Amino acid sequence: MAILFRSTPAATARWRPLLAELMPEHEFRFWPEIGDPAAIEYAMVWQPPPGLLASLPNLKLICGLGAGIDHLLRDPELPRHVPIMRLVDPYMTDAMSEYVVLSALRLHRQDLDYLAQQRAQIWEERDQKNACERPVGILGFGTLGQEAGRKLRALGFPVAGWSRGAKEIAGFKTYAGAEGLAAIAAESEILVCLLPLTAATEGILDAALFARLPRGAGLVNAGRGDHLVEADLIPALEGGQLSGAVLDVFRDEPLPSEHPFWTHPRIIATPHIAAETHPPTAAAIIGNAIRRFAAGQPVPNLVDLARGY
Ligand SMILES: NC(=O)c1ccc[n+]([C@@H]2O[C@H](COP(=O)([O-])OP(=O)(O)OC[C@H]3O[C@@H](n4cnc5c(N)ncnc54)[C@H](OP(=O)(O)O)[C@@H]3O)[C@@H](O)[C@H]2O)c1
Repeated sequence: MAILFRSTPAATARWRPLLAELMPEHEFRFWPEIGDPAAIEYAMVWQPPPGLLASLPNLKLICGLGAGIDHLLRDPELPRHVPIMRLVDPYMTDAMSEYVVLSALRLHRQDLDYLAQQRAQIWEERDQKNACERPVGILGFGTLGQEAGRKLRALGFPVAGWSRGAKEIAGFKTYAGAEGLAAIAAESEILVCLLPLTAATEGILDAALFARLPRGAGLVNAGRGDHLVEADLIPALEGGQLSGAVLDVFRDEPLPSEHPFWTHPRIIATPHIAAETHPPTAAAIIGNAIRRFAAGQPVPNLVDLARGY
């Protein structure tokens, strides 16, 4: 029995020397040197080339190396009978909530304006609210969204969450469905996207949604680049409907050098680093899932392909 490992070259270089120590009981095949495909029963993958997983006749379990699985669903030959586990790692959840809190605070405390003032040597106070006067709405109120919400709430922000199914969570206003989207947008001075990318959520951050936000709202997108209709962002920023955007994910990654988001004064862009996969903790979680699967026990965080996440 062997495990296929396939990720970006940089991530593979990071994981490769660690796997023998972290998962010593397993034999690994590193793509593209996979040897006999019939020997591979498990796959640890990020953005596998289309057709790779379908070429493994004895594949039993696919372990995604990220929380989102849109990178797998893009493969038209994905063997849909093989269960997929997405990575839910408290280490990554903490990383994401740090990113969201940092981004919300930057928007809340008018960091973009004060940085511009510093460059121009302008000593001038701006009106400032307290966190308790700045409602934050989180689109995607699952593992990552709820933890980010808890940390934002601890800082005093009123937090609301939007999910697919209606839910009650103590301490938060919650919304669901199309009506819920309009309602959460109407009250969110900072809107955070932590949705999975599915047919229903692609392009959700568009001019129509921005128009529903309170004027001057801030946007944080740490879900996926395809959640944002990129052409709608700069007009919303330049017209003042949005006051700033913090973006970690983009339609094309790496963000092309000529892309206007690199240099726009009201955009903060980071290279998809909000919550990176952390080999020591991720290997323990995936190793445990493989042991459970092999013993016929239930595996956590299996993807529902009909739902798309
Ligand atoms: N930038 C980064 O570094 C980074 C790192 C990790 C993850 N991510 C992104 O974050 C996403 C979320 O991860 P997670 O672990 O929090 O996922 P999760 O636990 O599955 O939570 C997803 C949330 O989105 C909601 N949702 C899904 N489809 C919806 C729809 N059509 N309308 C309204 N709500 C919808 C779900 O609603 P229900 O609760 O009703 O199911 C759930 O609340 C990942 O898919 C990935 O794209 C980004």
